[in-house]
Order: sequence, then C-alpha cells, then structure tokens
Amino acid sequence: MNLTDKLEKNKDLTDSEFEELIAAEDEDTKEYLALRARAVRESIYKKDVYLRGLIEFTNYCKNDCLYCGIRRSNKNAARYRLSEEQILNCCDSGYKLGFRTFVLQGGEDAYFTDDVLIPLIEEIKRRHPDCALTLSIGERERDSYQRLFDAGADRYLLRHETADKAHYESLHPKEMSFEHRMKCLYDLKEIGYQVGCGMMIGSPGQEIKHLVKDLRFLQELKPEMVGIGPFIPHHDTPFSDKETGSVDITLKLLSIIRLMLPDCLLPATTALGTADGLGREKGILAGANVVMPNLSPTDVRDKYLLYDNKICTGDEAAECIRCMTLRVKKVGYEVVQSRGDHKNFVKN
Ligand code: SAM
Ligand code: FES
Repeated sequence: MNLTDKLEKNKDLTDSEFEELIAAEDEDTKEYLALRARAVRESIYKKDVYLRGLIEFTNYCKNDCLYCGIRRSNKNAARYRLSEEQILNCCDSGYKLGFRTFVLQGGEDAYFTDDVLIPLIEEIKRRHPDCALTLSIGERERDSYQRLFDAGADRYLLRHETADKAHYESLHPKEMSFEHRMKCLYDLKEIGYQVGCGMMIGSPGQEIKHLVKDLRFLQELKPEMVGIGPFIPHHDTPFSDKETGSVDITLKLLSIIRLMLPDCLLPATTALGTADGLGREKGILAGANVVMPNLSPTDVRDKYLLYDNKICTGDEAAECIRCMTLRVKKVGYEVVQSRGDHKNFVKN
C-alpha cells in the first residue's frame, strides 16, 4: 500500500514514513496525496468553503519574535490601534457582506486588557448573536482566557510555530518560553474554546524532522483548526535575508493534515497567497476549507505587515470577498455564509 493510502486508512504513519511523504518530489505522489485529501474533505465538508472576517485591530506588540514584521524592535513599523467603535464598525459591515465569523487578531498590545476586551466582546455578541467570535491575541494567562471565553469568545488562534523546543528558542527571544506557549494551548482547549494552532513552513532552521514533531503535536492536541503558511521574510527583521518557505511543502502538509485529522478546519492562508499568486486556490485543492479575507479598514491594512509583499493590503472588504468568492468558484468550490464550526464541536 502506498503512503497516502496508508495515511488515509490509519490516520497515521511512522516518523520515517511521514518524512518520506513530506519530502516526496514525484508528481504522481503529490497529485495523489492532494486527490485523497480533497476526497476526504468533500466527504465531510462537501464543496463548502468557510469565510472568516479578519480584523487586524492593533499592530502594537510587546513581543519580539525574530520572524515578525511587527516585533517591538522594529522601529520602522508605523503603529496603529483601532478604537472600539472602529472594530464594531468592521463587524457591522462584515455582517452585511455575509461574514458570520469575526477574527480579532493583533499584536500583544498592553492596551487591550481584559477590562477593555470584555465589553467589546459582549457588544459584538449582542449585535451579532449568530456569529462566532475568534480571538488571536497571543499568550495570556489562563484566568484571562477564561474571562474572555465567559464574555462570549468562541474560538482562539494561537500558532505553536514549531513543536521542537530548541527550534522554538531559535525563533524567539529569551523571555519567551516554549513551555508557556504549550500551556496556553492546553489551557484554551480545557476552557472550551475551539482552538487553532499551526506552524510556519520553512522558518529558518526548520528541518523535516521538526515538521514530523509538529504532526505528532497536532495528534496530541487535536485542535479544531490548523493554520499553516510559508515563512516569508520581512526586511526589518533579523531574518530579512532568509529564504521564503516552500509552497510545495506547505501544500503537501495541508493534505497530510487533512488525512490525519479529517474533520479539521484548514485555512488557505494569506501567506500562501503571498508566496504564490495562486497559493490559496492551490491550498483549497490540497484539502483546505477556510479562507480569511481581510475586514480591517483600508487605511491601516498596509501597516499590519508581518512579512514583505503581503497581498490584499489595498482592497476594500467588499472587493476582497468578491475576489475570494470568484477564486474559490474557479477551482470548483463554493464560499458559504455560515459560522463554519468544526464538524464535531458542541458548545457547552
Ligand atoms: N499576536 C498574535 C499571536 O502571536 O498569535 C497574533 C498575530 S501573529 C503576527 C500571527 C501569526 O503570523 C504568527 O503566529 C506567525 O505564525 C505568523 N507570522 C508572523 N511573521 C511571519 C512571517 N514573517 N512569515 C509568515 N508568517 C508569519
Ligand atoms: Fe483580497 Fe483577493 S482576496 S483582494
């Protein structure tokens, strides 16, 4: 039996088999892997593609991750923070455009304490009770995650970035800890959030064995969503001269994750669309079932620059959703108006 069939059947492979599949170069293997990933995805989510409205509400960040364009040491980043009213306006206009999930994403900005966020979350949920609210605001303490959940947040995205401690430490400053990041993810799960983790593909120093560790970590955490995209250098970071991660490996991993965790929500990310003009379409054809168009006001779009040449920084939300809908349709799938919950998720 070939490795793709074995993975589909057992939802697992040995470490060396995973390595072999991730490294596979021949077109037949790659095409078959994507074909089976699509078949599994369609058996669960049909042709539906879920939309997430991304609101990048602050680029202030106290962290200093070596890869990230909004790290605190980047003195050239023009900082901005949306007001509560601007955030609510983004949700209101997104709702009219058909979004039923909002993702509030930002740097780790000390302004957004629990006391600021809680009334904001409550107001978004009061205005749009039929929508899911996702937070992506980095590492916090368990008690804070609990309070934000109690206020109405449904989901949380926190990429683990890499499941290898030494590799993690090479991508982050000393004051950040691998153990704390892992603790955050388990806390979020225990509290009852639908959790998204994920890793960059091709981050400096990454080896295939690290990616196998990432897969093992996904098997253990069982996240509802897995966000992966290629690493892309940013000119004002210590990794400015590093190479962009491989689109090809990103696509193979999307398919592998689809076969390993068949129900999981898999976005075709903006980074994938930046590294390759047709990256998001290719992502969907590799088994992804989520896209995250940008709902942030256009005047701040080009300031949330995590990496160079980010796409969609000049487009109005309405244009972005129109463009995404067409792109998805072109490859035979359909954007649907739905909260797009994980298949087996039941909120207590
Ligand atoms: N502050 C929150 C956090 O840390 O989770 C949310 C924002 S953070 C900028 C979102 C994600 O962007 C990170 O988890 C990382 O995987 C990704 N990212 C940052 N810099 C990147 C780069 N140079 N290339 C690709 N992805 C990058
Ligand atoms: Fe944003 Fe195409 S998805 S402009």
